[in-house]
Amino acid sequence: MAAAYKIHEHTFDMVVVGAGGAGLRATFGLAQKGLKTACITKVFPTRSHTVAAQGGVAAALANMGEDDWRYHFFDTVKGSDWLGDQDAIEYMCKEAIPAIIELEHYGVPFSRTDDGKIYQRPFGGMTTRYGEGPPAQRTCAAADRTGHAILHTLYQQSLAHDAQFFIEYFALDLIMDANGACRGVLALDMAEGTLHLFKAQGTVLATGGYGRAYFSATSAHTCTGDGGGMALRAGLSLQDMEFVQFHPTGIYGAGCLITEGVRGEGGILRNSNGERFMERYAPSVKDLAPRDMVSRAMTMEIRDGRGVGELKDHILLDLTHLGPEVIHEKLPGIAESARIFANVDVEKQPIPVIPTVHYNMGGIPTNYHGEVVQLRNGNPDEVVPGLYAIGEAACVSVHGANRLGSNSLLDLVVFGRAVANRAAETVKVDGKQARLAGDACDSALARLDKLRNANGGTPTAVIRDKMQRTMQLDAAVFRTGETLADGVRKMREIHASFGDVKVADRSLIWNSDLIETYELSNLLDQALVTIVSAENRTESRGAHAREDFPDRDDAHWQKHTLCSVTESGETAIDYRPVHMYTLSDDVSVVPPKKRVY
Ligand code: FUM
Repeated sequence: MAAAYKIHEHTFDMVVVGAGGAGLRATFGLAQKGLKTACITKVFPTRSHTVAAQGGVAAALANMGEDDWRYHFFDTVKGSDWLGDQDAIEYMCKEAIPAIIELEHYGVPFSRTDDGKIYQRPFGGMTTRYGEGPPAQRTCAAADRTGHAILHTLYQQSLAHDAQFFIEYFALDLIMDANGACRGVLALDMAEGTLHLFKAQGTVLATGGYGRAYFSATSAHTCTGDGGGMALRAGLSLQDMEFVQFHPTGIYGAGCLITEGVRGEGGILRNSNGERFMERYAPSVKDLAPRDMVSRAMTMEIRDGRGVGELKDHILLDLTHLGPEVIHEKLPGIAESARIFANVDVEKQPIPVIPTVHYNMGGIPTNYHGEVVQLRNGNPDEVVPGLYAIGEAACVSVHGANRLGSNSLLDLVVFGRAVANRAAETVKVDGKQARLAGDACDSALARLDKLRNANGGTPTAVIRDKMQRTMQLDAAVFRTGETLADGVRKMREIHASFGDVKVADRSLIWNSDLIETYELSNLLDQALVTIVSAENRTESRGAHAREDFPDRDDAHWQKHTLCSVTESGETAIDYRPVHMYTLSDDVSVVPPKKRVY
């Protein structure tokens, strides 16, 4: 089999897969440390999905009022509904301040206050004085195009360092050795149709989330969880996959994001009576409650007949009172999106919105250095040698059961940086690598050959459509044992139907049919693991809202789910404990309590 395909070999100290915010921050950080680094990416770096992030990046800079990173730590633990690892949360919130100042120095064009400081807006769940004070203005923004600003700056920094980019290369599979260590990755140069083996002491998965497992998502069509898919195929478990975030304000119909920054600037959600209904659900923070709560409140309003539109199936986001100055200066991007995708002039009309899949809290489990960990031989924190994961692909876990808005861009830069720092301590510059077994790529090649020649009766798009509709319906904002059981049954059938997939194009050059089939396979595994994990967790916590188990059950469920899947769709579940300790005495563990706002 291997003989049929010519493989071009490359040797690096580190290889990063993905060139979004996390991948780029890791790439140039590693190069800065003198490590010979490659970054392989299926899209041109500045087209990565980070470009679509709007509202901002959290850091307790206190530029616009009282703040402290310990308040940020408290809010993030509470926002996670006590499923976040508190050591990792401490690390992220403390490191946020130098990481953002560093971004400013790299040249990110943040919006400014009158006295020239980084502009910061309020975001959901961000408070002061450990939840007792007024909302914090903590989210550093470049108007409503913060991801765009950060991604372009990070790419510029990457070009200033000695990293090598392999652009429009699609990562097919991880190359694991007999000892369970990751030794690199096999990738396809999509333009040339050539195969490339990247051998490395460390492989960093920075491949983003898998939002496209759902029918309606704010995520780009490229968000197919390729890193998570490869990790599952390598026999690893993914963590907390049942926790899928619905952003309250996706444009009705189109699914495009309307930033939470709109509500941060004073925008209001209204039902068909024109009522500001969030006052009833979260009396103190109202429209700035965390996303899981706002999405549930919107869903309940719609269910109770107070939705808007002909079908009474969505909600209105009103910013007509903000005035043209705020809209032009702070929210120009969403004004444009609303005009294009909803035919709405936001100065005069509200935007029709609906909770839309936005973020995966679950992913490849790591410690706060970005090293992938697994439960092995009774050790829940055993490091998988040579493998790292960062950004949305990873589950550190700083977001636990529900991520706070603007903690995602933060996660990218903090843990992208952390991986570079860790590798500088553990990876040798130009270090010798043990010889790879001659058959190391055989199973990846056999899979490539099988998919390329797949001659079944079901086109990739048909299977993808079934998966997306099932996930949308059965793993939704609210879940019940019944819908989940039905969803698991359907997802098992859909997963099995991949055996009958049909790929029409046999070439290797710009074979989008083949690439979409690989992406589908990555999505299918993660969709199945998501819905199986959701059925298994019989409590409500953060974004996982079970109507049949409405309460959080810390005695049984304050633990991370681990779930793996075989090629034939057999799933296995296990657990890791939540880290209820901090890294230092600078901050104290936040014990679980009722999560009210
Ligand atoms: O609403 C937003 O701007 C999204 C931010 C985030 O997901 O962190």
